[in-house]
Amino acid sequence: MSRLYGDNEDISPDKVKDFFNDRANRDLESDLSIVLFQDKENSAQRHEEEKKLFYNKIDTSGKKVLEIGCGIGRWAEALHDKCESYLGLDFSEELIAIAKKTYEGYDDCYFQEMSATDIKVEELLIEPPFDIVIFSGFLMYINDDDLKIIMNEVNSVCTDNKIVFAMEPTSCMETRLTLKDFYSEGLEADYNAIYRTEQEYRDIFSDLNCNEIFAEDLFQDLSDHTETKYMYYVIE
Ligand SMILES: C[S@@+](CC[C@H](N)C(=O)[O-])C[C@H]1O[C@@H](n2cnc3c(N)ncnc32)[C@H](O)[C@@H]1O
Repeated sequence: MSRLYGDNEDISPDKVKDFFNDRANRDLESDLSIVLFQDKENSAQRHEEEKKLFYNKIDTSGKKVLEIGCGIGRWAEALHDKCESYLGLDFSEELIAIAKKTYEGYDDCYFQEMSATDIKVEELLIEPPFDIVIFSGFLMYINDDDLKIIMNEVNSVCTDNKIVFAMEPTSCMETRLTLKDFYSEGLEADYNAIYRTEQEYRDIFSDLNCNEIFAEDLFQDLSDHTETKYMYYVIE
């Protein structure tokens, strides 16, 4: 059980996967609560606020959207009638099952169980290239070396003028905070996550061969007001 400041410590992807599979089988208030960690009402409100922000920042009309780490597929709900097609990938079989059950009736909307660090391009249900990539509350579960793999994968499955939208809890301290096998009272489980600094995310996104990285605070991460904040990044 640890709370590590500054150290670049790896977390276990298997434990992350088990954590999300377990949440799928808990008696939570709503499917949104599985991934947003709040009660039904607050999760629904946050989903609406995030959708509004996304619509203001990114025009998806006629675009092919790829979401990596799609969870229960809430961004499909947000975008299915606003883009040409949407593909969500996630390594949690339990969450992919929920996403399929809930949203796969939508036209041109697909979900696939796949690890973000091993994207099998020839198996993708929508043929690349993609125009827009979404990382939403996802990069915080990925170790530094694996992020490099993912940025390369994104470059290889996207058009040259792609837009990448990321929404991640970010450290507001000078260094990152890593929760490693940290027992969370709120989540009633051991939790693993990396809260990187904005500069660390900027360095990571610089591998995406884009010209501009826009970053802004979204709203305070409700779990911890002093050490982390919720930020979004538009990379294009
Ligand atoms: C907090 S949830 C966010 C889900 C969704 N993006 C959203 O905004 O609702 C994080 C998701 O990332 C997925 N994830 C974490 N590491 C992954 C990996 N290496 N490959 C694929 N999915 C991963 C988890 O299974 C989980 O569904």
